[in-house]
Amino acid sequence: MAVVVVCGDVENRAEVHPHGATLTSWKVDGEEMTFVSRNAVFDGKKAIRGGIPLVFPNFGPWELGPQHGFARTSTWNLVQTPVQGSGNSVAVFELEDSEQTRAIWNYKFKVRYTVSVGDHQLETNLDVTNTGDHQFDFTILLHTYFRLPDIRKTTVDGLKGCMYTDKVHKDRKTESRDLISVAAETDNMYEATSSVHHITHGAGGYTFVVTKRNLPDTVVWNPWEEKARAMSDFGDDEYTKMICVEAGHVASRYVLSPKQTFSGGQIITLKKE
Ligand code: BG6
Repeated sequence: MAVVVVCGDVENRAEVHPHGATLTSWKVDGEEMTFVSRNAVFDGKKAIRGGIPLVFPNFGPWELGPQHGFARTSTWNLVQTPVQGSGNSVAVFELEDSEQTRAIWNYKFKVRYTVSVGDHQLETNLDVTNTGDHQFDFTILLHTYFRLPDIRKTTVDGLKGCMYTDKVHKDRKTESRDLISVAAETDNMYEATSSVHHITHGAGGYTFVVTKRNLPDTVVWNPWEEKARAMSDFGDDEYTKMICVEAGHVASRYVLSPKQTFSGGQIITLKKE
């Protein structure tokens, strides 16, 4: 499968890379909205550093397999080719269990990933079906990398009052701030967050509005200076140009019975002033 272009029109389009069905570009009025590192590796082995890697069936370190699961490094099938029309342009990808996935995680499943590009809008949905005879549990997340003009001017809302695990300081706290800003390495997993987050870019800038569906939790991540230097697939200075605001079901594992489907997703809308 080649790179799939999901096209609203020439200026409003997304691209999905076959490796991990990773969305690697979303342009609005010709301007790139996603962050992909200049050092990202596209060799089909490592997860792509940027865009929207898909985290399934495990968020974070995993005793059974690779960090963040195998979905982001698996080859997905394109099952619906996008057509450019008057409405949204939609592409659908599927990942099913295989000998390789069952060797790591011995369950039968199908994940359907739908990418839809509309006017100033990107919708990404994940549907997980248990196609086997045994119940399984998983965590799942859209690891979205947003491109920013300057992290120091960026704020994120919708987290106040939420419990979170601060993975950098190995602590659990309640968020007291209305608006989060990032000025150091940040790796926070917030629980039961607002279904809407606004990511702002400072005076005169635009706002990403992230509307979550059935994804109760939100991870906010920025590696900052030192960790950026230690990452081979991330430019040393690039931490100022990105933030990950990741919608997921990660604070607890979702239990899925045979023949049942879990469905969750997000809509990102770009609001210009
Ligand atoms: C975030 C995690 O979601 O992803 C961080 O909370 C992790 O702990 C980051 O460092 C990047 O992970 P990876 O595997 O893509 O380097």
